[in-house]
Amino acid sequence: MLVSYLKQTKELFGDELYLSKTSNSHEKNKNAKSDLDNFCKEIYECQKCPLGATRNKFVFGAGDPQANLMLVGEAPGAEEDRLGEPFVGRAGKLLDKILKAINRSRSKDVYICNVLKCRPPNNRDPLTSEVERCEPHLLKQIEIMRPKLIVALGRVAGKTLLKVEQPLKDMRGKLHDYFGTPLIVVYHPAALLRNPGLKPAAWEDFKWIRSILDN
Ligand code: URA
Repeated sequence: MLVSYLKQTKELFGDELYLSKTSNSHEKNKNAKSDLDNFCKEIYECQKCPLGATRNKFVFGAGDPQANLMLVGEAPGAEEDRLGEPFVGRAGKLLDKILKAINRSRSKDVYICNVLKCRPPNNRDPLTSEVERCEPHLLKQIEIMRPKLIVALGRVAGKTLLKVEQPLKDMRGKLHDYFGTPLIVVYHPAALLRNPGLKPAAWEDFKWIRSILDN
């Protein structure tokens, strides 16, 4: 098992390896699962913006309701819209491998969602008007889950949450604050697929994420 873990992290990120410890003193909401389920039932037919009319499925979010790590992408793509789950395409498969390398998974200490819960046509960037309507849903998810750390996946998620117009390189590597919860911006897994040369930097980010979670 250790051998396959080492092989897999080497494949993903090269030679540098860190082994994680697990400890957690963060206070959680014991009812997070039912609170999230109830909240989803309240909003899954949302029509607050025009994307409600064009979506196939509302993509609420998925993962461990007790997670300390909340990953936030920009918006569902075609596969997510078809299946109603976040990050299920090729980028999602890579994300799963990265999570495994930090000893986590969708069912273990990770919750994944998006700023927008419905797919923008042709995967265009979210409009400000859509974010204004949808971001309160994300804030409620955060209030229920009380994650220790939010990780924005990619430039669009980062700039949308932080309300800044900056390239990813300026947002990356810093501990930001999102309404009282620490937030880090990392490369979108789709960017890592397009440009595997970014993977060592992404691995640095995820080692940092793991150290925050484990301390
Ligand atoms: N990209 C995103 O930002 N979110 C998804 O759910 C899938 C791809």
